[in-house]
Amino acid sequence: MTKLLCSSMMCANFSNLKKETQELDQAGIDIFHMDFMDGSFVPNFGMGLQDFELVRSVTDKPVDVHLMIQEPSKYVEMFADLGADIIYIHPEADQQVARTLETIHQKGKKAGIAINPGTSVEMIQGLLPLVEYVMVMTVNPGFAGQKYLAYTDPKIEKLVALSKEYDFEVMVDGAISPEKVERLSKVGVAGFVLGTSALFGKTGTYSETLSKLRA
Ligand code: DX5
Ligand code: ZN
Repeated sequence: MTKLLCSSMMCANFSNLKKETQELDQAGIDIFHMDFMDGSFVPNFGMGLQDFELVRSVTDKPVDVHLMIQEPSKYVEMFADLGADIIYIHPEADQQVARTLETIHQKGKKAGIAINPGTSVEMIQGLLPLVEYVMVMTVNPGFAGQKYLAYTDPKIEKLVALSKEYDFEVMVDGAISPEKVERLSKVGVAGFVLGTSALFGKTGTYSETLSKLRA
């Protein structure tokens, strides 16, 4: 099955975000991945709402939001109304995760949970029937350019095994290099968030880079 290649837009060239989005769209990216941070759940700040609105206005392809924020339930409806197609929340940051996921579905959007490197499968087992995506953070969330955390590999394999039973896709986010795309594709990972490790700041064009990754 075809793998989902997702561009981590916080790694894009911000001198011309419109052009970057158009080029990635034409190069064949599947999903635009937008990282939002509140400086509390993660010690950093990511994209802004204006960035989201620009990307949304430029492409018809799916745009996801990765909410690395406390109490995401406060903002899922706002992001749905802005046009997000997939909304990822961190279960570690929400007291009523199942309710928030239901709200995302009521807004007609796809729901995902993004889980920190230290969050176990057992901790989120009860949520698996409620989501279309489980995104495994393979770095501690909040910063691009970090090192891949290999201790998340067994968790990825466990989730791939469960993904058929509960009908969700396993995605990975963090330090995903071409080698990781190749190895994790074989393991059964469905989608990859691509940042500085595989997509941005490379010598080739985006279409050259993406077709190499697809090969
Ligand atoms: C991590 C971010 C991603 C990703 C960036 O919180 O969600 O943007 O790590 O890609 P890399 O890690 O390849 O620079
Ligand atoms: Zn992300």
